[in-house]
Amino acid sequence: MILVTGGAGYIGSHTCIELLAAGYEIAVLDDYSNSRPEAVKRVQEIAGKTFPVYEGDVRDEALLDKIFKAHDISCIIHFAGLKAVGESVSIPVEYYDNNLNSSLALCKAMKKHNTTRLIFSSSATVYKDGNPMPLDEESDTGCTNPYGWTKYMSEQIFTDAAKANEGWTIALLRYFNPIGAHASGKIGEDPKGIPNNLMPFITQTAIGKIDKLQVFGDDYDTPDGTGVRDYIHVVDLAKGHVAAVAFCEAQSGVHAINLGTGNGTSVLEMVQAFEKVTGVSVPRQIVARRPGDIATCYASCAKAERLLGWKAEKTLEDMVKDSWFWQNSNPNGYEE
Ligand code: NAD
Ligand code: WQD
Repeated sequence: MILVTGGAGYIGSHTCIELLAAGYEIAVLDDYSNSRPEAVKRVQEIAGKTFPVYEGDVRDEALLDKIFKAHDISCIIHFAGLKAVGESVSIPVEYYDNNLNSSLALCKAMKKHNTTRLIFSSSATVYKDGNPMPLDEESDTGCTNPYGWTKYMSEQIFTDAAKANEGWTIALLRYFNPIGAHASGKIGEDPKGIPNNLMPFITQTAIGKIDKLQVFGDDYDTPDGTGVRDYIHVVDLAKGHVAAVAFCEAQSGVHAINLGTGNGTSVLEMVQAFEKVTGVSVPRQIVARRPGDIATCYASCAKAERLLGWKAEKTLEDMVKDSWFWQNSNPNGYEE
């Protein structure tokens, strides 16, 4: 059985569906600090399968003990964590506490219960600014905010633990910019409060919840002056995890792997793609750069293709179409 921490969240919920479709048995552990039980319910509906769900904190070692005793956990996919860059600057201690202590608790549980495989949600944010593009896994690392450091330090924790425990296999999956939603329109990204990322801002502007999209700077050294990122469809990302589970069954050691598409898209290109696919206009205004943003970030995905036999397949049109379908079908997210 695979233990999915943070399985009620945005990427976790989509991954649960793909794992179930591939025939894996799963259990979910989530404290619903940034998600809702409704997401898990909908995963079960889409998959036509049920699975054990534990409400609680990954840092709760007694709860981990209970879960590992109740099930034969062969692999962990560790999504749970706090993820808002700006918030991490305001409440760094909470970020270090949650994100690092959950990584440590899982290492202890693995050792105690002889689980040898773990897949960790890392991020392109571990790469230092100033690397040549595309970023490959050998690019220089280093962070500029507490959230990024929690990913960097968790990678180090898992790497050292794997060195000390023979037979452990760790995949450090460095995601680029996940967007999109399940094609059913039943699950998707449901940010609590004001969104942090571009796509929820676009869809919430399009639906009229936000007056105008603020485009953070048009004076970057990019073709149209706006920031360029590697957006990846969340279902492709979810399938990357299924490929990583199989990879970890066959390999040992620690492997950092980028999951992106390899394509860069600017903010204005994204808005134009959205308007073209949906026919809905997105009022916008150019404002100052957002502190901490970089001009361009996109991945080399050659290692994922080589090691996992995985490649993103969905187009930018699929990403905007599915994001819009989710937003439109659930104007208030999972909240009724
Ligand atoms: P999300 O907030 O939707 O999902 C995280 C889930 O973990 C939530 O359901 C939350 O309730 C749960 N959680 C948080 N702390 C917990 C704890 N201590 N115990 C139990 N559950 C806890 O976020 P997401 O976008 O699905 O991201 C999943 C992972 O991927 C995170 O680790 C995030 O840092 C990483 N990541 C996300 C992105 C992105 O842009 N979405 C990019 C790179 C990496
Ligand atoms: C994308 C582009 C913005 C909002 C963040 C984290 C990163 C990873 C993914 C977790 C940039 C521009 C955005 C808006 C805008 N998360 N933008 N107006 O900053 O690349 O990455 O999420 O690991 O760590 O930093 O993503 O979606 O916030 O921004 O113009 O209202 O859209 O300036 O160029 P980012 P994003």
